[in-house]
Amino acid sequence: MEKSLVLIKPDAIQRGLAGEIISRLEKKGLKIVAVKMLHMDNTLAQRHYAVHKGKAFFNDLVNFITSGPVIALIFQGKNAVQIIRQVMGETDPAKAHSGTIRGDFGIDIGHNLIHGSDSLENASKEINLFFSDEEIFNYDRELDAWIY
Ligand code: RTP
Ligand code: MG
Repeated sequence: MEKSLVLIKPDAIQRGLAGEIISRLEKKGLKIVAVKMLHMDNTLAQRHYAVHKGKAFFNDLVNFITSGPVIALIFQGKNAVQIIRQVMGETDPAKAHSGTIRGDFGIDIGHNLIHGSDSLENASKEINLFFSDEEIFNYDRELDAWIY
């Protein structure tokens, strides 16, 4: 069973889209096992986006992600990492298909509403950046015994 980190980015909070985004992931069948609201500081933002250090958009990215509060969640499920990326859509909302979060609600690559871990390895690193073990819940749902 995979776990992946999702961030509802500051633009989604500003636009009142947090519930819609969380709802789409929940309805897909993924299980929420951790959630918190926080205002990321510069240090956390630099760590979270460390792979992008040195790229032209890095400063804008850090400034944006620290511009207001975010909601961080861990979703758990079979193939959670890949499935969340599919529900999110491509990085650039101009290329993201309709029916995806970014395709339906986004317009600008710098303000694309949601972050989802891009690999199992990065998911594990990112989860450790945002959550302690005590903040992650382990509980059963009836449907888990079926396919999840
Ligand atoms: P994220 O990490 O936020 O989930 O997004 P992602 O995997 O789809 O995209 P990634 O390549 O990791 O890029 C991180 C964020 O940087 C911004 N970006 N801007 N101007 C540009 O060319 C550019 N490329 C990336 C996006 O906001 C992207 O979400
Ligand atoms: Mg990424």
